[in-house]
Amino acid sequence: MSLKIHAAITAVGGYVPPDKLTNLDLEKMVDTNDQWIRTRTGITERRILKEPGKATSDMIAPAVLELCTKRGITPDEIECLIVGTVTPDMVFPSTANLVCHKIGAHQAWGFDLSAACSGFLFALAQGAALIESGRYKKVVVCGADKMSAIIDYTDRATCIIFGDGAGAVLLEPSSVEFGVMDSMLRSDGSGSPYLHIKAGGSLKPASEETVANREHYAYQEGQAVFKFAVKGMADVSAELMEKNNLKAEDIAWLVPHQANLRIIDATANRMGLSTEKVMINIERYGNTTAATIPLCLWEWENKLKKGDNLILAAFGGGFTWGAIWVKWAYDTK
Ligand code: UT7
Repeated sequence: MSLKIHAAITAVGGYVPPDKLTNLDLEKMVDTNDQWIRTRTGITERRILKEPGKATSDMIAPAVLELCTKRGITPDEIECLIVGTVTPDMVFPSTANLVCHKIGAHQAWGFDLSAACSGFLFALAQGAALIESGRYKKVVVCGADKMSAIIDYTDRATCIIFGDGAGAVLLEPSSVEFGVMDSMLRSDGSGSPYLHIKAGGSLKPASEETVANREHYAYQEGQAVFKFAVKGMADVSAELMEKNNLKAEDIAWLVPHQANLRIIDATANRMGLSTEKVMINIERYGNTTAATIPLCLWEWENKLKKGDNLILAAFGGGFTWGAIWVKWAYDTK
């Protein structure tokens, strides 16, 4: 028992759209090939939300409903819902607002948090703080992106990487030491030139010129981001372990952002972890930005055991990066 209130993850939900975009499909769209994509990134296929009129909130809604069913609660028991995303349905209102409406979470307030690929980690830290304050008993934290909405499918530097998906976790108070144990979150705006969308914000509002110049799509200087990502994700994960006296043998799972298999391998090596302890699904979903980490938790939930130490780690646009130590709170039947 501990006097401190801990924010335990008590349920997980996820959603990926049914349509697949394979490397072979991409070979027909841009100058690339399956072997290059697999060896440079680890990706074989990604999911794309193709249905007209559907947006990020439409992927989050089923993920949240799934976690409610698993936990045996109704959506109107949710008090706050936070969405990490860079592909909100609209500039405003927030996607969190729209999700609450779609699922019938009538008692909840919520907000969107923009931290690119670190969006879920930043949102998780925020949700945990609400629970730890003692004022909230049920907070839902989502990571979701419809990256296909902001990808230029004539640009081989970006279109081979990204996919669509959504994941969500429920946070509840625990007097036992389970849940979010510690976090280290970082950001550095000097990294913005390497990964951003040039137009559509207040700096460069949409115009005929910005559309003609394809400036509403994600722009990435892959090599530069790669170098920062390898160092940032590995450093912060190692630092978090050191700070908390965690050795490699204490860690059950590394839950890394799925940007590139080579970045994941470098982080695992730095932490002294073998591949069996690393959640990897990049080959099937690609980089779903804020959704990668909760989608891993969703897929691996059955393998997780009460008391398992997890390190969640991410690096993304901003730059933003960080790591969170989670002690898993339940066994799945
Ligand atoms: O999600 C959060 C943030 N994002 C990341 O963490 C992504 C970080 N970056 C990366 O994952 C990698 O930089 C990429 C996967 C984007 C690119 O891989 P790379 O190993 O850095 O490739 P590169 O850009 O250095 O290009 C190497 C070669 C070049 O040809 P030359 O100059 O060696 O002849 C490129 O023109 O590969 C060529 N190339 C391609 N070839 C086939 C670049 N893109 C492609 C492509 N297909 N799609």
